Amino acid sequence: MRVSISTLKEMKAKKEKIVMLTAYDYSTAKLVDEAGVPLILVGDSLGMVILGYDSTIPVTIDDMIHHTKAVARGSKQAIVIGDMPFMTYHSEPDALNNAARFMQEGGAQAIKLEGGVTVANTVKRIVDCGIPVMGHIGLTPQSVHQLGGHRVQGKTPEAALRLLQDAQALEQAGAFAVVLELIPAPLSKLISEKISIPTIGIGAGPDCDGQVQVIADLLGLFSDFVPRHAKQYAKLAGSIKSAIGDYMSEVKAGKFPTPENSSTMDESLLAELASA
Ligand code: KIV
Repeated sequence: MRVSISTLKEMKAKKEKIVMLTAYDYSTAKLVDEAGVPLILVGDSLGMVILGYDSTIPVTIDDMIHHTKAVARGSKQAIVIGDMPFMTYHSEPDALNNAARFMQEGGAQAIKLEGGVTVANTVKRIVDCGIPVMGHIGLTPQSVHQLGGHRVQGKTPEAALRLLQDAQALEQAGAFAVVLELIPAPLSKLISEKISIPTIGIGAGPDCDGQVQVIADLLGLFSDFVPRHAKQYAKLAGSIKSAIGDYMSEVKAGKFPTPENSSTMDESLLAELASA
């Protein structure tokens, strides 16, 4: 049975940590789902991880729906959350239409969008339509140019207060959870204590109600860059390259495929064909 939104609130009440991971395709989503992760985010980080852009800004709603469909097909028990990409929720008709696309076409069970006080009305309208919404505050990658880069947010008293108000506005608007990205650990702790909905941290310290990571970081798919907030639980880039190298060597040496990887046919038919 699929995890429900109300389970997440119960987990917060019981101080049970909530795990969230990104996935962008069927096979990865299947593995994440089978591992029992309750929240799968089809993050717009797919812009960098899958599509090779240098930010999330070029990602379109069609890109997101395409990948959400694949993730939804791979997941049976997790809540699949579709990430609303850049400029797809800043007018109310766009926001409702695109949130509906994630649910109807993508097969998601919830959506996520970036912002706090400024998107609270939009969040309320989407929630009123019966669509669960996850907020996202702190370092909001779609505003990276306005924020002046990927830097820790909420370091001054004014900025910290704004983040608290953002979290409270999302809670009041009916969001079921909020991602806290790149904010000081003590501020995350305070926000987590002050709001009743779960906080899911990334680069926000250990006292959030849950944690999210980008799966490529966790699996070590990129050997050239590891963000400070990430931990590599595997170093798959090396293993994958070595498997590809072995395959190349065996093909070149005529060692692959073997008879076990091949099929035979009737000798007489072959002889007939040869003399034709
Ligand atoms: O797009 C994404 O992967 C995200 C997470 C980092 C929270 O928004």
